[in-house]
Amino acid sequence: MIKKETGTQPGCGEKNDRCWWKEGVVYQIYPRSFADSNGDGIGDLRGIIGKLDYLKWLGVDIIWLNPVYESPNDDGGYDIADYRAILYNFGSMRDFDDLLEAVHARGIRLIMDLVVNHTSDEHPWFIESRKSTESPLRDYYIWRKPRPDGSLPNDWQSFFEGPAWELDDASGEYYLHLFSKKQPDLNWENESVREEVYDIMRFWLDRGIDGFRMDVINLISKKPGLPFSESGSGARIRGGEHFINGPKAVEYLKEMKQQVLNHYDVMSVGETPDVSAEIGLRYVGKPGGPLDMLFQFDHMDIDYGPDGYWDIGEWTPSQLFSIFADWQYAMEGKGWNSLYLNNHDQPRQVSRFGDDGHFRIPSARLLAIFLHTLKGTPYIYQGEEIGMANVRFEAVGDFRDVAIRNFWNRAIAEGMDPAEAMRRIHYRGRDNARTPMQWNSGRAAGFTEGTPWIACSGDYPSVNVELQCDDETSVLACYRRLLTLRKEYPVFAYGLFQEITGRKGGPIVYTRTLDDSELMVVLNWSGEEIPFPECAKLLLGGVQDRRFLVSSYAGSEPDGKRLRPWEAAVWHFSG
Ligand code: GLC
Ligand code: CA
Repeated sequence: MIKKETGTQPGCGEKNDRCWWKEGVVYQIYPRSFADSNGDGIGDLRGIIGKLDYLKWLGVDIIWLNPVYESPNDDGGYDIADYRAILYNFGSMRDFDDLLEAVHARGIRLIMDLVVNHTSDEHPWFIESRKSTESPLRDYYIWRKPRPDGSLPNDWQSFFEGPAWELDDASGEYYLHLFSKKQPDLNWENESVREEVYDIMRFWLDRGIDGFRMDVINLISKKPGLPFSESGSGARIRGGEHFINGPKAVEYLKEMKQQVLNHYDVMSVGETPDVSAEIGLRYVGKPGGPLDMLFQFDHMDIDYGPDGYWDIGEWTPSQLFSIFADWQYAMEGKGWNSLYLNNHDQPRQVSRFGDDGHFRIPSARLLAIFLHTLKGTPYIYQGEEIGMANVRFEAVGDFRDVAIRNFWNRAIAEGMDPAEAMRRIHYRGRDNARTPMQWNSGRAAGFTEGTPWIACSGDYPSVNVELQCDDETSVLACYRRLLTLRKEYPVFAYGLFQEITGRKGGPIVYTRTLDDSELMVVLNWSGEEIPFPECAKLLLGGVQDRRFLVSSYAGSEPDGKRLRPWEAAVWHFSG
């Protein structure tokens, strides 16, 4: 087992105490697109090792690796065929151990993705399970006979289009897959399945990793009897009321906590679509909530249209701010927030919530300042720190994501105008986040010597790490500054959040307070110049000991009369 310094004891967070995962900043790596060390066009573990000094320089405390396990890669590695093996594209177990050691040597921690709502259909359990209705592993998955009239067991829908059931010809039964056909859902009712999962977790924790990000973990419990959907349930997907936050989800996670997580000094973050703050507290409320934090989706759903995910709706910055503020209050003193504006499943934040045109730099910096001055653990998704934007591939064949391909096929079959389907893909598609990390202006953005598995975004000659690392006015410099400030002032991690204004449009102003240390944050989330807010003037006027910390316009403090487009600024008051 790899030795590492541990800051705190297992169970940290149970009493709302301080701990490393509250103070740290997480950097999310999508390995396939981060750095390729051997020229095959696919990012890999050795590539990551080569970039650790960059992450250290940036000030990152924790790395989250998207799945690197053996997988046929139907869904970007979220379809796992062997939980104890590294996919050959990414390297070997030896490479993994070297990576972990190199990470720890730099005082950084590493968490991995735990994908156990489903496996790959190529996992040996599923291969065995589908052999016959008598298979000893039949019950590891969710099999059902057709209904008497030959139709599907129920009307649940898959997140990746079409019914959530696939017929297996050999037995004439259907298996449940809430994601692609190649991702059959595990049956968590079966105790052996849960034991297998806990063993997998121990395997990695004993190797020395520092925790897990748990994929769609609030989907593991399905309502007994697998009932048909209820009309008007409000669930994000048909049938979701029967499998999202299902009856035993919290109970299973408590068991997992007791049997596994409690025995290690590690962190856990659950990916949980469709949780309100109230439901969220069942998972992370202290004492007793089994997880440390959640990825909630309220702010990710903000621009859904009436037809859901692939429909594009309107949103405003004050709505977005209200969602974050509500979560801040709901978690205060009870649970811990995680903070994110994008990840490998979402469009790039500067394109979605900022301005990736004329105001790319100040708007990307504003988003960074916003996220890193809220209470909670911030997550940076690779490339966000340089302001990477969405891509606009013209040909559908240039996209790689199964969700995009399935949407396109359905949309075209249903007669949607191809230009409209493409507009939606450009806005929403997950491949926006998955183009190669932009390291420099050279061939393929310095990501690979070969041909990248997915094309680079066309803007890399002007948006890359090399151009920004010595430039104080860059997006990257702002991230680095924020991460330094966070280490200097505990109020960033622990200060109480209090909104001053922002729910009705116009400027957003809030404070964070810890003992006699206070932050004031002022944001102009728009492309127009606006007057400097009066409430902020009053706060600034009332203090003796104040220090200007950071702004979206490099180094320059607002003039106190107006806020420039996308201007964001943070002051510290003490005493
Ligand atoms: C999560 C992952 C996503 C994946 C899905 C199914 O939402 O983040 O990438 O497709 O789960 O595993
Ligand atoms: Ca490679």
